[in-house]
Amino acid sequence: MKSIAVFASGTGTNFEAIQKAIEDHQLEASIECVVSDHRDAKVVEKAQQKNIEVFAFDPKSYPSKKDYEKEIVTLLDSKKVDLVVLAGYMRLCGEVLLNAYEGKIINIHPSLLPAFKGKDAIGQAIDYGVKVMGVTIHYVDSGMDSGKIIAQRSFDVEEGLSREEIEASIHAIEHVLYPSVIQKLLEEMK
Ligand code: GRF
Repeated sequence: MKSIAVFASGTGTNFEAIQKAIEDHQLEASIECVVSDHRDAKVVEKAQQKNIEVFAFDPKSYPSKKDYEKEIVTLLDSKKVDLVVLAGYMRLCGEVLLNAYEGKIINIHPSLLPAFKGKDAIGQAIDYGVKVMGVTIHYVDSGMDSGKIIAQRSFDVEEGLSREEIEASIHAIEHVLYPSVIQKLLEEMK
C-alpha cells in the first residue's frame, strides 16, 4: 500500500474526495498525514475526524521556511510517504521540501495552466471572459504553478453561469480527476 500526505490550507473538499476514493477502494493508498499552515483550517478538523495525523503549524513561529520544512520532511520520512499531494496548499514549496521529495510532489490548480497562475485563478478567468475553463494537475517546482503538467480537464463556460456555478463545475472535475491521477502515479511507482 502506497502512502500519501495531503497538504492543504483551507476547506479540504479535495482532501475529502481523496479520502472517499480510498474508502470506496477506487484509490489504493492511505493518507498518512495532513499538513496545514493554518491551525484553524476546516481541513484540519476534517482530517482529525478521520483519525488522520495532522501537522498544523504557524509559519510565523519559525525563523525561516527551511526550519518548518525540515520538520515536515522529518514527518514525511517517518511515514515513508510516496507522494505529496498539494490540495489548496497556499504556499510555495522551498528547497528543503523540493530536494527531499523531488518529482514526488503534485498540485491541483483551478485553471488551464499556463493561464491564470496564482491566487483566485477562477476569478482571473471570469474577469478575462474565457469561454473554456478547467483544471490542471502538475508536478511542483520552485515556481508558482509552473511545474510539468500531468493532466488537464476542460469545460465550456455557458453564457450566464454564476461564479458559484462555475466553482461547482471546477470542484466536480477536481474531485474525480485528482484521485484518479494519484492512483495512476502510484501504480507507475510499483
Ligand atoms: C481547489 O480549487 C484547488 O484547485 C486549489 O485550491 C482549491 C482547494 O479547495 N489549489 P479545497 O480546499 O480542496 O476545497
